[in-house]
Amino acid sequence: MEVSASILSVKKENCIKTFYNLETSGIDYFHIDVMDGEFVENNTTSLMTEYTEYLNTITNIPLDVHLMVKDVMSYIKSYLIFEPRNITVHYESANNEEELKEWIDYIKKNNCKVGVSIKPNTEVEKIYSILPFIHTVLVMTVEPGKGGQKLIPETIEKIKTLKEYINKNELEVDIEADGGINEDNVEELKNAGCDIVVAGTSLISSENYKETVEKLKRE
Ligand code: DX5
Ligand code: ZN
Repeated sequence: MEVSASILSVKKENCIKTFYNLETSGIDYFHIDVMDGEFVENNTTSLMTEYTEYLNTITNIPLDVHLMVKDVMSYIKSYLIFEPRNITVHYESANNEEELKEWIDYIKKNNCKVGVSIKPNTEVEKIYSILPFIHTVLVMTVEPGKGGQKLIPETIEKIKTLKEYINKNELEVDIEADGGINEDNVEELKNAGCDIVVAGTSLISSENYKETVEKLKRE
């Protein structure tokens, strides 16, 4: 299991220390939650730009960018500059499959991996046709928009269904789960077929990042 640390709940006052502690904790990625105040209510655009600019100068840990925005293409362009490992766009942001494919192609052309995310109420079958073209499916286990929520148990069934489909069709797509993940539910996610978990509140508010990451990975 890989762990992607969501920096959404990192406080500005002690962000340098927090980033340092995360850097040495064994995380696999930094998860950057970009919210535009339109696709979701919250707006994190300036904070995430600031954090990403800083992280880019100090870390070798790959960046995992999650775009919860309406004007997807312009954010893809702004974040490609940071050379992230992947950029994940929302299935629900696209007007049609053609538009979604345009974003996917643009990201890939710029040597970046692509993820597509689905909200809890979006059926997993909706994205089957694009699986051959992407690297990761980000299954939202809470409604996108804020950290610190409780995982919605029904989303775990979606992960199982998706995993079965991926295996049956011999596709090379990772499943990443995002929202409300902690030491107590990570095992269930692993059993369902998750490859990567995003940890925000449960990690950032823990006493010892290294220990928390070890526990998340052990499952
Ligand atoms: C939700 C974000 C998540 C989330 C992670 O919209 O995409 O990355 O905030 O934080 P926790 O772990 O607190 O749910
Ligand atoms: Zn996220």
